[in-house]
Amino acid sequence: MAEIFLTGATGFVGRHLVPALLCEGHRLRCLARSAEKAKLLRALGCEVVLGDLRDLSSDPSPLTPLPRRGEGPRGAEVVIHLAGVHQGSPALIRRTNVEGTAQLVQIAQAQGVKKILYLSTVTAANRPAWPYAHSVWLAEQIIRQSALRFTILRCSVIVGPGDTFLGGILHMARHWPVVPIVGSGQTRFQPISVHDVVRCILRAISSDRYDNRVLTIGGPEMLSYEQIVTAALAALRIDKRVIHLPRRTTRLCVRALERLGVRTPFVPGYFLSHDHVASSVTLIEDEFGLRPQRLQEVLAAIIAGGVARPQRNLYC
Ligand SMILES: NC(=O)c1ccc[n+]([C@@H]2O[C@H](COP(=O)([O-])OP(=O)(O)OC[C@H]3O[C@@H](n4cnc5c(N)ncnc54)[C@H](OP(=O)(O)O)[C@@H]3O)[C@@H](O)[C@H]2O)c1
Repeated sequence: MAEIFLTGATGFVGRHLVPALLCEGHRLRCLARSAEKAKLLRALGCEVVLGDLRDLSSDPSPLTPLPRRGEGPRGAEVVIHLAGVHQGSPALIRRTNVEGTAQLVQIAQAQGVKKILYLSTVTAANRPAWPYAHSVWLAEQIIRQSALRFTILRCSVIVGPGDTFLGGILHMARHWPVVPIVGSGQTRFQPISVHDVVRCILRAISSDRYDNRVLTIGGPEMLSYEQIVTAALAALRIDKRVIHLPRRTTRLCVRALERLGVRTPFVPGYFLSHDHVASSVTLIEDEFGLRPQRLQEVLAAIIAGGVARPQRNLYC
């Protein structure tokens, strides 16, 4: 059982991770940005620090709660860092993902934290043209150069109930007259179930075997975007036409509509320009001793729970 400070508790992965950490007996102090979300976390049994990753220094000791009656102060031993943004201006992405991480690491070191786990992406790279991938790479460098023990989990796209990637495809497959694929549809993914990511995080924080390592994890299948769309249609038992939209023209149209104040479900970006694959499909089995869920199992779980309508989430 550890004292854990968690950022990103209210996001897709965080919402799955919080109950799992509590269930294992860990004590959780979470960063939350709104009183409403803080209330939900408190109801689950977490302590909450209201604040923003970009301005953590406004709280004198965000990682150390006030002592309870009869107890000494209980500083966090482990930081699990999930908070981040992947959309928005390059300045927002940098302030949140890079400067926010730098501030968190500085405070963690000053407050005697032993270890940090950072959820990164397989697309992280020293590639300034893609602000998100570059920001995550820079955040990784900050963590690696710190005095903290670290585990960095670089994930392919994470899927499961509440995700926007598969959720978006399923929503489109159900409700749109045709299913558009922007570009060739040949970008490769290795979708990993959020359930498996949570299990990897639980193991990584409870053993020093994972200390000072960067582990790249993905699910058991390497699939093109088009294969994922086909699998989603099959899981829904829907026979619908799939059409390919030229990427350049789609992006031009989306940008033109945005300038006119019209929001579309498409987000221009680099997401579909690069493969999202981990180096080895067996790493999860070899390193974590887990049998990762296949896409079909994840699709079945999402469909059984009801597909929510995701926000703007179709990349082009
Ligand atoms: N999902 C994937 O496929 C995937 C794949 C690889 C890596 N990752 C990385 O894994 C992490 C978690 O992913 P996710 O899918 O759970 O992301 P998500 O659903 O977008 O959630 C992001 C979380 O970060 C919080 N956050 C954003 N800006 C913040 C700020 N300035 N201060 C404090 N909190 C802030 C959000 O809080 P609010 O609720 O207040 O917005 C939310 O809790 C992210 O860093 C992401 O880059 C995700």
